[in-house]
Amino acid sequence: MTLISSKLRYLLLFYAAFQAIQYGLRWKHYDISPKQFKGIAAKAASAPTASQSISTLTSGMRSYYDPIMPRHIEWHAMQLGGLSLRIYPIITAFTEFAAAFSTPFPTSGRAGFHWANTTCTVLKGKVSRFNDGTQDDTSEAFSSGMAFRHGQFESYVYNFEKDTFVACYGRGFLPFSSTVHCTSGISLGEPLSVVKFYMSQVQNYWNMASQTASRIFNHYKARATGEL
Ligand SMILES: *[C@@H]1O[C@H](CO)[C@@H](O)[C@H](O)[C@H]1NC(C)=O
Repeated sequence: MTLISSKLRYLLLFYAAFQAIQYGLRWKHYDISPKQFKGIAAKAASAPTASQSISTLTSGMRSYYDPIMPRHIEWHAMQLGGLSLRIYPIITAFTEFAAAFSTPFPTSGRAGFHWANTTCTVLKGKVSRFNDGTQDDTSEAFSSGMAFRHGQFESYVYNFEKDTFVACYGRGFLPFSSTVHCTSGISLGEPLSVVKFYMSQVQNYWNMASQTASRIFNHYKARATGEL
């Protein structure tokens, strides 16, 4: 009896936490406009080379979001499910991210479940994927300039062809995605790449937090001085 009630309590607690996060995500202020990101990514896709795509993407994002972007952006190793990718983190926060992913060699694997809605544009190369939830066996393929959406809690097997670059923007509860990233990295014997990645992101989290603090401060200051 006590066993059941204690399990029930955990379940209720879990459910309450889930609902609270859902509620928070719905009312959260987001810094990045998905439409703007898609526009910039489409422009980047039409650049002649992959490195020009990345610099177009970066400068396009800087023209809108420079204050919340890191000064220097570098590529990092990333294991996501079975996918061996490189990540170019343009903006990383707790509830939204913008990044490019690439691979010089063909790679395939499950990208994992995420509590986030993500839209990606293929900059160069080709991505194909297969939805685990569908009962038929059709796969989708996306080439340069095309976009695909990976919705929250959806599961796909992805295949990235050689020299593929994609640009993605996602919104959701990203600490949940970090578990996929960390466990994949550790299980593939790469814990240091995970540590290195998060060390470099600390600066971004700090940037974002101070931006939010100053926005809230200005809001209350304006209210106090009767400008609102
Ligand atoms: C993801 O999209 C679905 C459907 O549009 C929406 O109901 C959900 O709230 C979104 N999730 C997040 C984390 O924004």
